[in-house]
Amino acid sequence: KNIILLGPPGAGKGTQAKRLVDERAMVQLSTGDMLREAMTSGTEMGRRVADVMEKGQLVTDEIVIGLIEERLTGPAGGGFIFDGFPRTLKQADALGALMARLGQTLDAVIEMQVDDAALVRRITGRYTCGTCGAVYHDETKPTQVAGTCDVCGGHEMKRRADDNEEALKTRLMEYYKKTSPLIGYYYAKGQLRSVDGLAEMDAVADSIAKVLDKS
Ligand code: AP5
Ligand code: ZN
Repeated sequence: KNIILLGPPGAGKGTQAKRLVDERAMVQLSTGDMLREAMTSGTEMGRRVADVMEKGQLVTDEIVIGLIEERLTGPAGGGFIFDGFPRTLKQADALGALMARLGQTLDAVIEMQVDDAALVRRITGRYTCGTCGAVYHDETKPTQVAGTCDVCGGHEMKRRADDNEEALKTRLMEYYKKTSPLIGYYYAKGQLRSVDGLAEMDAVADSIAKVLDKS
């Protein structure tokens, strides 16, 4: 099955996508991860987007649509999870056209509902393993041994350059202005399913599993 995880920064899209990869062999397509990879590998595109991302603004539709298009023809495993894409109506239309061309269907759009106060706590407490990308949180999901990744044993914990209050304000504003109209867009297409993203991680995973098994 192919699904979109839709929600504001910090809603838990990446956390839940990683579980679906482990539990259902689905393929996570995170445009945020792809852009950060392009930045660390020092490609021309990576250099161009670094400044925009650090401020918390959206990069151009053309760039992210190109990134997704490249991956859609690759291995699909148990289905694609679109994480952080689409983020504008133009991206949503482009995804629809690409899927139709490849004979693929979109099975559900899962909106993860979380309030703003929780988002700020989640983003400012987040850190990730620099080796394997596992996602942690100072309070809700710390590593078992301080400074050591539970998954790969790595010792290099990182915080994202855009995980500060200033950039987060911009990211939230971008979400409400440009991405939240997608809720109505997919509702009108009959594809929208909403889950309570404020619940504990396991409970959120259960709600998503229910949606997947029903769609
Ligand atoms: P992107 O990387 O997509 O970031 P985002 O949308 O801001 O989302 P996050 O990764 O911050 O949050 P998440 O929902 O994945 O939360 P997580 O699971 O980590 O985008 C970054 C930038 O790239 C954009 O600003 C833009 O510049 C650019 N970009 C990317 N895609 C683009 C596109 N399509 N178009 C244009 N530009 C694009 O969880 C957060 C924290 O909370 C973690 O610490 C986690 O442990 C914790 N947590 C998770 N779930 C729970 C829970 N249930 N209870 C308690 N804590 C929890
Ligand atoms: Zn790790």
